[in-house]
Amino acid sequence: MILLTSIAELRSWRNSPGTETVGFVPTMGALHAGHESLLEKARSENDRVCLSIFVNPTQFNNPDDFANYPKTMDRDLEVARRNRVDAVFAPVNPKELYPDEYHFKAIETSFSKELCGAFRTGHFEGVLTIVLKLLLLTRATRAYFGEKDFQQLSLIRGMVQAFFIDTEIRACPTLREADGLALSSRNVRLTRDERALAPTLYRALSTERDLEIIHSQLTERGFEVEYLAEIHGRRFIAAHLGKVRLIDNTEFHS
Ligand code: PAJ
Repeated sequence: MILLTSIAELRSWRNSPGTETVGFVPTMGALHAGHESLLEKARSENDRVCLSIFVNPTQFNNPDDFANYPKTMDRDLEVARRNRVDAVFAPVNPKELYPDEYHFKAIETSFSKELCGAFRTGHFEGVLTIVLKLLLLTRATRAYFGEKDFQQLSLIRGMVQAFFIDTEIRACPTLREADGLALSSRNVRLTRDERALAPTLYRALSTERDLEIIHSQLTERGFEVEYLAEIHGRRFIAAHLGKVRLIDNTEFHS
């Protein structure tokens, strides 16, 4: 496994022999089994697997969330090695990815304004911009995204179609703890009591029929529901539990 810390190194790796098909898994690190499921799928479908680890500043609308985002680089590299990743792109200087100081952006004007976009101003501009840059740099054959962030996945699919980007977007199902809580890098920030309560979110979302009932059940238990909605056959939720913002979504049959 090779660690690439600059764009020049990434480009040179991409031009080396044996990289006919490249599966790309973009992440912000603090890797868990959810990320590993993406790496596994990428490993099974491509000659080479590239993982990026970059806590992208432009997608954080909340400075505290950015400052407190978990950083576990040494462990992440072990996880990458264990999953037979060929190249890890982890830029040492974040500014290298923004030579324009973020004057140029990838913007979607419709679905990105709903759900998370309605509460996190600029979030999806940051996500789409960094993913566009990474797809252009890696020239990935396939790129892997989790359904855990379903709105992100569908916006990325839309961008790739709109700009004729030659990368196949592959969706991976949400990996959950045994109690149903969707794995997330932010879960480590839950207190013990909050962690015990957290699975209620998915349980309510996937079993209750009525959105109002879900809303009041969760509010009673101490969640602060940000949004709860049904769109295109899916249910989406974001809720705060203490200092942590949890999101989840499920397929929905009326
Ligand atoms: P991050 O939150 O690190 O997630 C990286 C990828 O892992 C995303 O595609 C996400 O949907 C997927 N993922 C996270 N938890 C998962 C779970 N429990 N099951 C399955 N997949 C899961 O999403 C981002 O980073 C960033 O926005 C990024 C796309 C890297 C752009 O900066």
